Amino acid sequence: MTAAPPRSVRLTGWGRYAPAQVLTNADLERMVDTSDEWIVSRTGIRERRVAAAHETSASMGAVAGLRAIRTAGLEVNDIDLIVVATLTPDYWMPSTAALVKEAIGNTTAAAFDVAAACSGFVYGYATASAYITGGLARNVLVVGTELLTRFLDYSDRSTCILFGDGAGAVVLSAAEEPAPPAGIELTTDPQGAYMIWLPAGGSKAPASSDTVARGQHKIRMEGRETYRFATRTLASTGLAAAAKAGWTQRDVDLIIPHQANIRIIEAVAKGLDLPMDRFFVNVDRYGNTSAASVPIALAEAVNSGRVRPGDKLVFIAFGAGFTSGAVALEWTADPARGPLGEASVRPEDITVRQPVDWGSVDPIPPALAEILARPLPGHMDLSNVAPGEPAHAQTADSIR
Ligand code: ACO
Repeated sequence: MTAAPPRSVRLTGWGRYAPAQVLTNADLERMVDTSDEWIVSRTGIRERRVAAAHETSASMGAVAGLRAIRTAGLEVNDIDLIVVATLTPDYWMPSTAALVKEAIGNTTAAAFDVAAACSGFVYGYATASAYITGGLARNVLVVGTELLTRFLDYSDRSTCILFGDGAGAVVLSAAEEPAPPAGIELTTDPQGAYMIWLPAGGSKAPASSDTVARGQHKIRMEGRETYRFATRTLASTGLAAAAKAGWTQRDVDLIIPHQANIRIIEAVAKGLDLPMDRFFVNVDRYGNTSAASVPIALAEAVNSGRVRPGDKLVFIAFGAGFTSGAVALEWTADPARGPLGEASVRPEDITVRQPVDWGSVDPIPPALAEILARPLPGHMDLSNVAPGEPAHAQTADSIR
């Protein structure tokens, strides 16, 4: 990496990937004491995706990342920094970013992970932006990728219904000409540190048969406190980022929020006094994919024709930490490039190398074994995506 004068930043590429298998609310009704009615009315979620045994956060992130690079019209080695946001890395070390770098065939980039839970993509975006404006990178791949279904307790109905798997990515590129105004806001409130957490496996409680027996390697969450934090913080973080770009909320064409719960998004819309059609919503089909949720939603919004050059967008996210973050930017890329970039990368073309002596255990949670063994659902036409209408259920999606 070599230093160069400060430059402006443009979003030039975007991509997404979701595993093919679908876990519906009806499936969850057979596992825990819940109902489709409860899940839809409290969260807006109808189904979520589950990664297959051969998939990992790195493999999904590599597919989304390569699609973003192709959408940007760049060569893989034009990327000089790879930032991966994930709370479900393939391993403690190496970084998932290093595995993504190899899987996409890049030989030139620096690569590292950022840990900010569901705000991770926005934190990664901010990091990439700072590297570019500081002259340390020209083209940065920012990936949000999560394989949450392997970290859920399928006997805990308050968490296992919420989360799903997937990946999204963007490419940020240096531009010599001035970019339109933009704004970034990040917050961290450690009072919420134990409101969403995964207790064991770190240096405080290293993995042992005891920690496994106590179920301490699964995500735990205080739902009500998290909900309160999200509704309190999302609107103000989004407003702060918009203000840095010189806008009020009325100037914003589309808000791409973290897809955690439709009620949280509706509360933010109410708080900002904006109609729901200013918010892109796909939580009904993916559930909460943590750091992947904003870039998946962005790619869907752009590829389904919701975003035009000149539109003012705001990404807003919140997550464990507690963290929150927002990015305000004016869209400058050609939306038509997205579907081409997506079609140019098949998931089966991506391989994440394993060590030669690796005898992996079966990664599939026993509760999901039957679901992952059944035939894959058919594909869905993207034109059916109905932003702002979370009740509009989709059966399956084409974005493999
Ligand atoms: N099915 C049926 N009943 C349920 C379920 C379920 N799946 N889950 C909980 N309940 C029950 C509870 O036991 C409780 O019963 P009780 O009144 O007899 O005790 C009742 O439903 C109400 O429970 P609440 O927790 O008050 O339900 P709430 O309306 O708050 O909804 C939810 C729960 C959906 C989890 C909500 O609080 C929420 O979305 N919180 C935010 C979570 C979130 O976004 N987390 C992601 C953070 S991002 C990250 O970094 C990972």
